[in-house]
Amino acid sequence: MPTNEEEMVVTPWKVAGKVDYEKLTRQFGTHPLTKEILDKFRKYAGNLHFLLRREFFFCHRDLDWILNQYEKGEKFILYTGRGPSGPVHLGHILPWIFTKHLQDVFDAKLYFQMTDDEKFLFHHDFSIEKSVGFTYENALDVVALGFDVKKTKIISDIKNIDALYTLSIKIAKHINFSVVRAVFGFEESTNIGLIFFPAVQAAPCFLESFLTGKNVPCLIPAAIDQDPYWRVTRDVAPKLGFYKPAQIHSKFLPGLGKGGKMSASQPETCIFTKDPPELAEKKVFNAFTGGQPTVEEQKKYGGNPGICTVYQYMYYFFEEDDKKIRNLWENCKSGSMICGDCKEILAQKVKSFLLNHQKKREKARDTVDEFFLK
Ligand code: TYM
Repeated sequence: MPTNEEEMVVTPWKVAGKVDYEKLTRQFGTHPLTKEILDKFRKYAGNLHFLLRREFFFCHRDLDWILNQYEKGEKFILYTGRGPSGPVHLGHILPWIFTKHLQDVFDAKLYFQMTDDEKFLFHHDFSIEKSVGFTYENALDVVALGFDVKKTKIISDIKNIDALYTLSIKIAKHINFSVVRAVFGFEESTNIGLIFFPAVQAAPCFLESFLTGKNVPCLIPAAIDQDPYWRVTRDVAPKLGFYKPAQIHSKFLPGLGKGGKMSASQPETCIFTKDPPELAEKKVFNAFTGGQPTVEEQKKYGGNPGICTVYQYMYYFFEEDDKKIRNLWENCKSGSMICGDCKEILAQKVKSFLLNHQKKREKARDTVDEFFLK
């Protein structure tokens, strides 16, 4: 299990240690969101989405440029995705909730890539059928979030490779093995499918431009673990005559244990969208908190919401009301609320979210086919 004491590692396949987002911003060469950028979001959305207000989305590349272009009348497309290796968890859907918001505000077309090829290549025990099966199952979660069918195309790499292949080889021709080895940490034993794969994940950035014959800006909302792909893609873009894709990066929703992001590899600290509500409730009640060892001590000394996963779930996902979240912080600090109270509130919110999402997810079976790229 990752702990905060471990060294920080953030790659598309591994996140470990305590993530220092300021350090990552410097290391990856991204930029913090400025007041000017946030003002533009306020202007177009009418308010600031809580994932921006709470700095869950915290840094970017070329977002100022893409918003300026938008102001001049040049629309952009959105691009995000999922590596379908199992059921979707709450961490995955936070960037998608924000992507839906962007689609609504900027009336933007979305390409959503399901990298079933990547997961087939990465997991020794995966068959093609298993990967494609997860694509379909995970697409139900995407559709359940309410994306506009007229403006959303889900791409299964395996099923739709004909749409991506020409672009992928054009991109691949400009990327040396030494570059992907350095960026992704590939080894002698890495299979050659994975070595080619970064070109496939880059391709949707340029798909709209490729299909329309007109240069169309692309904005990628995702957590910062996907950044290595965009560094490589941005180097190639001008060589192919395309705009460099812009990014807005989020932090990670943590797992419910001590340290580490929410990750399917630790199912007991991870809430899946398909979890029966009662199971999710149990996970919440087992969560790591910033509470004192006893109720008496909690009442006397107060708790530490700064390290509490229950508080973080409320802050980043389940309590959008700024006044209520402030009260929660203060009541924890003062000891007037104990961990059991907080867990109860979160458990109720998680259960009602899951019930609602699961209903929409089932309904999505009727329409999901219309979302897939034909
Ligand atoms: P995957 O399946 O690992 O992750 C899907 C999306 O979820 C984000 N993410 C998280 N966000 C917040 N908290 C977490 N704990 C958390 N864990 C994962 C990821 O950053 C991602 O946005 N190769 C990709 C699929 C992909 C893609 C893309 C992702 C293809 N094209 C374009 C983003 C944008 C993958 O395996 O994602």
